[in-house]
Amino acid sequence: MTRFVDRFGREHRDLRVSLIDKCNLRCTYCMPSEHMTWLPSDTLLTADEIVRVVRIATDHGITDVRLTGGEPLVRGDVVDIVHRIATLPTRPAVAMTTNGVRLAGMVEALRAAGLQRLNISLDTLDARRFLTLTRRNELHAVLDGIDAAIAAGIRPIKLNAVLVRGVNDDEAPTLLHWAVERGLELRFIEEMPLSVGGQWSPDALVTSDEVVASLRGFDLQPVDDDPHSPARRMRIGGTDATVGFISSISRPFCGGCDRLRLTADGQFRNCLFGRDEYDLRGPMRAGADDDALLERMIASVQAKRAGHGTDDLSLVEPTRGMHAIGG
Ligand SMILES: C[S@@+](CC[C@H](N)C(=O)[O-])C[C@H]1O[C@@H](n2cnc3c(N)ncnc32)[C@H](O)[C@@H]1O
Repeated sequence: MTRFVDRFGREHRDLRVSLIDKCNLRCTYCMPSEHMTWLPSDTLLTADEIVRVVRIATDHGITDVRLTGGEPLVRGDVVDIVHRIATLPTRPAVAMTTNGVRLAGMVEALRAAGLQRLNISLDTLDARRFLTLTRRNELHAVLDGIDAAIAAGIRPIKLNAVLVRGVNDDEAPTLLHWAVERGLELRFIEEMPLSVGGQWSPDALVTSDEVVASLRGFDLQPVDDDPHSPARRMRIGGTDATVGFISSISRPFCGGCDRLRLTADGQFRNCLFGRDEYDLRGPMRAGADDDALLERMIASVQAKRAGHGTDDLSLVEPTRGMHAIGG
């Protein structure tokens, strides 16, 4: 079997699939407040097309599929897509990254369909800050979604937090207490230059080192980590709880990267920051067979660069924002 091994010997096991570029929040580090240009709906892959690409990918070494967006839960056929992927003969592990706004009403159906793991984004526990960061008044819905996911028995549930200078950069200890009390792993993600309309600046970046320093009171001890994990984890002294740091900017982890991506409009990508995309939608709709699609996926893997260069401040931002690539 051909596996997705690149020129640097990295074997790819993880596929991030963006189901839709639209979102029901407008996080300042991701999108402008209005005038977003969305992908035309006829360019979005259908459920059949998504499942086909995922089937080919899992036949060639992908073991983990993460559904994301945009916001995956605004796509009407998301439960069906989860079910169809989870029941592929290769039985991949199916995870999702969501903002949690619609989760409370859907998590039971998602779990029954085969969803195994969840990452839920939560940058603040303060309703006013939530409104500032996401431009929507939905903190209660997100907290209900987290409670519902815990009650539904989904494990693990991880929380993703982005700290923004001057807005929630003092909130790391509060968020960590809250997460630990509920048995959830909190991960702090450094803000990346991936917003449409761009607010990112290296001077304003809240680095992982800064967050670790603000968590002095937790007696953090390093954990030996899976080298493929983007998060560097630390154990909280005297407990089994851990906290993660995704330091894409200050400490890039490209050497262990095992991730590939499929955008909602059917472009296969080898890196969040890359500029190369390999179109699968056009060939699929023109009648390409599985081998022809596999050839394109392999070409993308072979073109993957050693690193994305986010430590180089001359980095050119990708042509699409995070919402359109799939975070
Ligand atoms: C793009 S979202 C997509 C999934 C879903 N809508 C959500 O909010 O989790 C995935 C993750 O990317 C994070 N994200 C978005 N823009 C980012 C940026 N510029 N830098 C770092 N993380 C970002 C979000 O906070 C979220 O945790």
